Amino acid sequence: MNSKIGVKILSTGSYVPEKILTNFDLEKMVETSDEWISTRTGIKERRILDKSQVTSDLAYNAAVKAIEKAKISVDDIDLIVVATISGDAPMPSTACYLQKKLKAFNSTAFDISAACSGFIYGVTVVKGLIQSGLYKRALLVGVEALSRVTDWTDRNTCVLFGDGAGAMIFEASETEDDIVSAYLGADGSFTELLNIPAGGAINPTTEETARQKLQYIKMQGKEIFKVAVTKMAEAAIKVQEKAGLKDEDITLYIPHQANLRIIDAVAKKAGVNKDKVYVNVHKYGNMSAATTIVALDEAISEGIVPKGSLVELVAFGAGLTWGACILKINF
Ligand code: UT7
Repeated sequence: MNSKIGVKILSTGSYVPEKILTNFDLEKMVETSDEWISTRTGIKERRILDKSQVTSDLAYNAAVKAIEKAKISVDDIDLIVVATISGDAPMPSTACYLQKKLKAFNSTAFDISAACSGFIYGVTVVKGLIQSGLYKRALLVGVEALSRVTDWTDRNTCVLFGDGAGAMIFEASETEDDIVSAYLGADGSFTELLNIPAGGAINPTTEETARQKLQYIKMQGKEIFKVAVTKMAEAAIKVQEKAGLKDEDITLYIPHQANLRIIDAVAKKAGVNKDKVYVNVHKYGNMSAATTIVALDEAISEGIVPKGSLVELVAFGAGLTWGACILKINF
């Protein structure tokens, strides 16, 4: 690791599909109500990708915006990392589909699988690869087409998820280091709490797995809720401690947007100023790896992240995985 190499963040971009699915639409699909969904989760509506679109199209739209804002050429990108659990196909990587669409053929491209913590895992991976001196300019995308892996007859899950994509461009720098702190965690003893049971080596896809709808997300929500609050609060504090920072140093907190009740409980447990916590779960639901980066891009567009701000992202997801990072936004 070359400690003299820093990582500059050049830009962000995001894209959500046009189609809006409201809680009232869901009332017509499963036995649920706007009242239940709103009070239990804070979600009012979510975006659903068009039949003609796939995951890498959402990623492409977000990436193009970030590339334009960074004023770089696709030929300058030497690393593409995509965080997703709902990619174009089990093989090859969505990063390779994205590379083809962008025509960014000077790049290495691969996916990482850390579910809702995927973007923060990606920030850490990109930081390490740039600081090692191996790569100079990276595109990181958090993207999900969760509507394609959702059982639309299961009210326990189908009211929660949405589709979207967010992107960030990074560059090696001798003078700046915008990834101020990062902290990751995982506990594989909880793999069964949130998973897609079929389509892998455990349950190869068969007519029987399809009949049992095992190709869709299964979740034990109540159990996850408790671990999510504990681990997100822990990550929120540890990432500050690692950098010698305090609540007053942070301009904006962007927690994973799965459930407003989880966001509130984490803010309380971590002792962070609630007025600085960004929320957009009402508009998009849980977009897994896309949530924190879409929220960050929106917050920047809204003008609430002045140049030089420190923004703290915190997330939690299947694995179970969790993580946090503090980013300096200097553009
Ligand atoms: O992205 C990271 C991973 N995921 C999460 O972070 C999700 C974490 N968990 C949660 O957000 C919450 O646990 C849920 C929103 C999933 C559920 O909220 P809850 O307050 O834990 O509800 P519950 O699962 O205890 O269900 C309460 C009741 C049940 O009925 P009974 O058994 O009390 O009669 C459910 O059957 O609500 C029922 N229910 C629903 N009712 C109307 C479950 N889903 C629905 C629904 N509409 N969509």
